[in-house]
Amino acid sequence: MKVEVRPLAEFTTLGVGGDAEIWTVETPADLLLATREPYRVLGNGSNLLVSDRGVPERVIRLGGVFARAELGRPRGDVHLTPWLGAGALLPGLVQEARRLGLSGLEPLLGIPASLGGAVRMNAGTRFGEMADVLEAVEIFHDGAFAVYHPGELGFGYRRSNLPAGGIVTRVRLRLRRRDPAEIAALMERVDAARKGQPKRKSAGCAFKNPPGDSAGRLIDRAGFKGLRAGGAMISHEHGNFVVNTGGASAADVWKLVKRIQEELPLELEWEIWGDLP
Ligand code: FAD
Ligand code: EPU
Repeated sequence: MKVEVRPLAEFTTLGVGGDAEIWTVETPADLLLATREPYRVLGNGSNLLVSDRGVPERVIRLGGVFARAELGRPRGDVHLTPWLGAGALLPGLVQEARRLGLSGLEPLLGIPASLGGAVRMNAGTRFGEMADVLEAVEIFHDGAFAVYHPGELGFGYRRSNLPAGGIVTRVRLRLRRRDPAEIAALMERVDAARKGQPKRKSAGCAFKNPPGDSAGRLIDRAGFKGLRAGGAMISHEHGNFVVNTGGASAADVWKLVKRIQEELPLELEWEIWGDLP
């Protein structure tokens, strides 16, 4: 196990966030030790806005056995995968599934999540979401591992209801055999739906979509695109993305969020870590 104090800016896709003690756990014994004091769990940091002052809690990252994942040899029309480490990254699994002729992960193409973070957020697109392909979820809480059926985890649009302090450690997926050409065709459609999203550093959409509408469209219509605070900017390409144009602080990003919320009743999709001004 590695324990180091690092700026969380290095571990988030937005590239902001102050120092924290980072505990990279590699075995169940590490996990037991790391969770003895207050903690937070970090996935790939792609849905986080972290305070410039960092966080006082331990930040747990899943490495070692918790980051290993192979989908296994497809057998039969329905393929239940082996247990996959929740620290593994989704993009690699989406590509592995395509190569193996396994369908189910195509809707998640382009989401830079860890498997555990994708479960926690029920990450998805209009083509489908994480909960659709879950067979079972292993969660560590109160010092023990327990296996849950997805029906027990309260999944909804970009939400879940994990047990308090629960760390997703492993998951099994339910995939289906499909013609690779059909898989590739669906992936192209998902990719096309993302064409309007910026390539610069971001944490994805800042706000959830209100029922029947798009937060990006509302922010765009309100004239906020291109608005800057320090190194942060509301993307010209998509109104629901705040991009780090270089040297942005959490305080900069937060100014833009508050400015939007003064005018529009939108709920944050990002998770906020630590105190913001
Ligand atoms: P983090 O950002 O590290 O953490 C998010 C939350 O999950 C935190 O509360 C954290 O404590 C918790 N968490 C992380 N790992 C675990 C675990 N193992 N057990 C328990 N809790 C955990 N999201 C979508 O839904 N659809 C999209 O199309 C999409 N597109 C994106 C595009 C870009 C360019 C970017 C940067 C982000 C995008 N996102 C999208 C947002 C983001 O990728 C998702 O919310 C993703 O699920 C976050 O996963 P993560 O591993 O990065 O989690
Ligand atoms: N639109 C605008 N201006 C903008 C942005 C969007 O007018 O600046 C319009 C578009 O033209 C379109 C509509 O709003 O008519 C919807 O836009 P888009 O297709 O980009 O989808 P979205 O609702 O903004 C959602 C998810 C994305 C996901 C895409 C693709 C949310 C909050 N966002 O975006 O998820 O990638 O669909 O399925 O649910 C994320 O959650 O982080 C995320 C990026």
